[in-house]
Amino acid sequence: MSAATAGSTGIGDPYFPGDGNGGYDATHYGLALAYDPKSRQLGGTATIDAKATQDLSQFNLDLSGFTVRSVTVNGAPAEFSRKGSELTVRTDLKDKAAFKVEVAYAGTPQPVRESSNLGSYGFIPTPDGSFVTCEPNGAKTWFPSNDHPADKATFDFTLTVPEGVTAIANGELAGQPKTTNGKTTFIWREKHPMTTYLATMTTGKFQVRTGTSPGGIPVYAAADPRFRTSLNSLYDQSGKITDYWATVFGPYPFGSTGGVVDDFAAGYALENQTKPIYGGFEPDEGIIAHELAHQWFGNSLSITRWKDLWLNEGFATYAEWLWSEHRGQGTAQQQFNDAYAGATDAIWKYPPGETRPNDLFNASVYTRGGMALHALRLEIGDGKFFPLIKKWAADHRYGNVTTEQFIELAEKTSGKQLDDLFDAWLFKQRKPAKPTSVS
Ligand code: ARG
Ligand code: ZN
Repeated sequence: MSAATAGSTGIGDPYFPGDGNGGYDATHYGLALAYDPKSRQLGGTATIDAKATQDLSQFNLDLSGFTVRSVTVNGAPAEFSRKGSELTVRTDLKDKAAFKVEVAYAGTPQPVRESSNLGSYGFIPTPDGSFVTCEPNGAKTWFPSNDHPADKATFDFTLTVPEGVTAIANGELAGQPKTTNGKTTFIWREKHPMTTYLATMTTGKFQVRTGTSPGGIPVYAAADPRFRTSLNSLYDQSGKITDYWATVFGPYPFGSTGGVVDDFAAGYALENQTKPIYGGFEPDEGIIAHELAHQWFGNSLSITRWKDLWLNEGFATYAEWLWSEHRGQGTAQQQFNDAYAGATDAIWKYPPGETRPNDLFNASVYTRGGMALHALRLEIGDGKFFPLIKKWAADHRYGNVTTEQFIELAEKTSGKQLDDLFDAWLFKQRKPAKPTSVS
């Protein structure tokens, strides 16, 4: 008989060794949480369904801050300890065993502030509620999880806030919010797998508009009163753009689309699943097209390691160029020409195929990543390129992907050797020659 061993404290991503954990797969998170914007207290229980992937004497969850009141495994109290962002739970589980962990906790959320070039992220208190954007590893600032995109799970949220405050999470509302004794509870369900960094609990004063897109996809749009004038355009554009992407990338992977404009000046947007969030600005079509393209590239197809982030950002940037072309505002070729001419040396020195952990969201990951896709389009022609993108989205729907898998599929579907092209655009620290169309 082999002795059970400890699940590792990281999932094995060399860029972020402490992120995620080993020894189990999370399959579902049930978050029953109350937040009070005045006192900034967040508390409740997280119930995590998981499956052991080895015999386990203990396993970790990622959680930073808060007081943990109790932990149970399969209903029985479990011993636990904390160190940094690791919550260690003692147990005795067999390989392949399904188990349920319940963590009761409360405290004041502390977002991650100014780490590398990421700005502030995680659960960020605002005057009227919370702005929640967790990429890359800020889920730990509001719930215990296996906080890495390699472990996706379904979610349900039971969120209680003071009456008059709206609580917005991923997926769809399960019924009407209920108010008792001055508190309102919103129940949201995301029934499709989701990475932890896309989970949200955005709260505050919001004006909401719901309906369906012209193509029949449910839409939920919300805007802080300070941005009330952007609500209708957010609603209309989000529906239309999601419909259009479904014709280019294949069927929309989730149950609803939409977006949230909050008054927190984050200086960025995030593609929170089904509910992209725009931080303190009125989003234009370009950025809405970007965040909605992420619903396919990043959200349905998620990276396995952070070094492959161009698979999210390069695709979403290229989608902005495709949207511009679709709207007759400059072809993707023109956008590529401008990007190529305008790229700084810093971009040519930063290979987007090896995203750097201390500079994750470098312009190269976006722009040169997008240029890589246009170079591929020119090399294999539209007749191969667009079916490839659809097949990529279909083959890995709700899954995890790597750059190697994309290159392999591009070669298989085009029948071409593409190592040199990807090498030049993704992996070399110098400017690739400007491509010309062969098709
Ligand atoms: N994925 C987001 C986008 O491209 C960017 C997120 C930036 N995150 C951050 N912590 N600065 O829209
Ligand atoms: Zn993006």
